[in-house]
Amino acid sequence: MDDMLNVALPKGRLGEKVYEMFAAAGFPCPELLQPNRKLIFENPEANVRYYWVKPSDVAIYVERGAADVGVAGKDIIIEYAPEVYELLDLGLGKCRMCVAAQKDFRENPERTLRVATKFPHIAAGYYAGQSRDIDIIKLNGSIEVAPILGLSDVIVDIVETGTTLKENNLEVFETIMPISARLIANKAGFRFKNELIEKLCAGLAGVLGKERADA
Ligand code: PRP
Repeated sequence: MDDMLNVALPKGRLGEKVYEMFAAAGFPCPELLQPNRKLIFENPEANVRYYWVKPSDVAIYVERGAADVGVAGKDIIIEYAPEVYELLDLGLGKCRMCVAAQKDFRENPERTLRVATKFPHIAAGYYAGQSRDIDIIKLNGSIEVAPILGLSDVIVDIVETGTTLKENNLEVFETIMPISARLIANKAGFRFKNELIEKLCAGLAGVLGKERADA
């Protein structure tokens, strides 16, 4: 079996910050920072291999063991409930899952609430907890358009800066949960590559501790 640590990184700005943390934690791979379209990088000296994957796919790579560890948002972890270990909150990619609607929206408990979202399980769980009847409309992006065009009454979506809501005349009605990026590990990989994964966790905990002390 391959004895390198295989890491699935979320492609994009969050992934670049994650890589910097991993490098500082003892798993550098300088080639990864070069401007090119490669998706796989390795540094045999540091015993690490990185893959850039779509953020929402990280958990799939880790669950199936194609990667030993990865970094995924808590939103994805709750929505897809992958069979993985969640090891650390990296404190990156902070945002919140919210219910939002047009400013003049008034809740009518007599009617089924139409909810547009990329996160049908999170939305269903949230409204089940309130015994509220809902009709879920699963979309894949630009969710904010749905209530404006009358496709839905509300949306359940990620809010980071709030700019997208504001610029589309929507506002937050309820906050469902805070979200941040988590280090996840494949269950078998955690046993077989325990030494490497423990080294990574200890290194990341050191980086996080230093960041908090500097703040
Ligand atoms: C996410 C989310 C909101 C936006 C929130 O969309 O679905 O649309 O970011 O960010 P803000 O509060 O900082 O404005 P994403 O960029 O992932 O694109 P999508 O519409 O394709 O889902």
